[in-house]
Amino acid sequence: MKRLFLLALLSVLSICSSHGRRIDSSVPARIKNGVITLKTPVRPAGAASALQMRAEPLKTVRVGFIGLGMRGPGAVRRFTYIDGVEIKALCDLEQSNVTKVQKTLSGRGLPKADEYVGEQEWKKLCNRADIDLVYICTDWLNHTPMAVYAMEHGKHVAIEVPAAMSIKECWDLVNTCEKTRRHCMMLENCVYDFFEMAALNMARHGLFGELYYGEGGYIHNLAPFWEKYHGNWRLAYNKDHRGDNYPTHGIGPVCQAFDIHRGDRMTRLVSMDTAPYVGAKIARETHGWESYAEGDHTTTLISTARGRVIEIQHNVYANRPYSRLYALTGTDGYAAKYPDKGICVKGEKVELKEVDALDLDKFVSPGLRDELLSLYEPDFAKEIKEKAKSVGGHGGMDYIMDYRLVYCLRNGLPLDEDVYDAAEWSCLTELSRLSIENGNAPVEVPDFTRGDWNKVKGFSYAFVK
Ligand SMILES: NC(=O)c1ccc[n+]([C@@H]2O[C@H](COP(=O)([O-])OP(=O)(O)OC[C@H]3O[C@@H](n4cnc5c(N)ncnc54)[C@H](O)[C@@H]3O)[C@@H](O)[C@H]2O)c1
Repeated sequence: MKRLFLLALLSVLSICSSHGRRIDSSVPARIKNGVITLKTPVRPAGAASALQMRAEPLKTVRVGFIGLGMRGPGAVRRFTYIDGVEIKALCDLEQSNVTKVQKTLSGRGLPKADEYVGEQEWKKLCNRADIDLVYICTDWLNHTPMAVYAMEHGKHVAIEVPAAMSIKECWDLVNTCEKTRRHCMMLENCVYDFFEMAALNMARHGLFGELYYGEGGYIHNLAPFWEKYHGNWRLAYNKDHRGDNYPTHGIGPVCQAFDIHRGDRMTRLVSMDTAPYVGAKIARETHGWESYAEGDHTTTLISTARGRVIEIQHNVYANRPYSRLYALTGTDGYAAKYPDKGICVKGEKVELKEVDALDLDKFVSPGLRDELLSLYEPDFAKEIKEKAKSVGGHGGMDYIMDYRLVYCLRNGLPLDEDVYDAAEWSCLTELSRLSIENGNAPVEVPDFTRGDWNKVKGFSYAFVK
């Protein structure tokens, strides 16, 4: 009888342990009832929520740039057009990259910046007392270690996309920002594109009713660029990592429209990929690599606490036109940007002449669409639009992003994109890999606010009153 009881107990225990199987993740993770669940670390002593975090206003924002390859020099150039900025330091692995950017500064009539050249030199830049903001445009794996070090040395940080490549790195950013009270912004520029800003504003004014389905993605054939990344870091990363390795351009604008961690939160995802038809061929032909992890096309479906669904796609190999897919579906309307911009709204929602002609199963006319886009462009964007377009950077959105960052830092305001956005948008990289590598299993999305996702009511830009 005793033996029978022991046998029964052992079989129950073994069922429990198979349900709680550990999986290969950057933080402790288990499969519980078929769902991969990651452990939320305890908030470190001395840390507090960074929601709506403000820092002391800065009269002048003194900046140091790390990473001056294809992306970094444009950022330095844009900063030369922003008031209240001093460019103090430039850092890269290559002297030639630094020298080129010094020419941009002298061409704009600005003094030379101090130079840091070499693998570990960025630490010296971060150690300086006369720098307020460290702006990081290096390869992906350097982003979080550099940002954490900079925040620990009293600097605000701006990090190119994705800010973090693993769940552990996402938590490192959150914990360091919460503890040091330094801002940590991921430079997700697509939320500042004109269509996305206007559609967000229309959504906030209720033109689409209740939003319930959002689409986004990054579909861009990178064939002309693979060999240009320093040390070939991007192809090398994709060779070793399955999943959506570049999710932020797709997810960022949808999360702003869905008020993620400002009234809703992503709860669970499942991800699926194709075989690496093109990626593996490029890897073999250019480097002789025999294996390649990242599938050519990755699709991820994410559910939210309020019962909405977001669909995100990634493909950097397809011979097809560029697309970020961006689309919002609501109970009363629809906005889509690719391949052609289109908007559906109900007549009674808009106070414009052409309202009678509105029909919900057709896009409004191109004339009315453009009128709506202009009407709902945020005022701050209207004010700087001309300058943004003339300075450039993806048609002006990059300038608007930098302008807003500097404006908020100079006025001691919360940033448009906070550390939780950086973590939530970047975490899809590892979570999609976990789903795919475990038979497309559902994966819980961590709550990086640790329970505070419903405290702020809706997304908004901060301004001086
Ligand atoms: N937001 C956008 O639209 C957009 C567009 C392009 C690239 N990006 C992002 O920008 C980042 C950079 O991409 P890229 O195309 O310029 O790559 P890149 O390879 O051209 O440039 C990376 C630079 O970082 C430097 N670097 C690497 N390690 C360093 C270290 N230890 N110290 C100092 N410098 C170091 C390299 O010397 C190189 O010049 C990536 O995160 C990428 O995803 C974003």
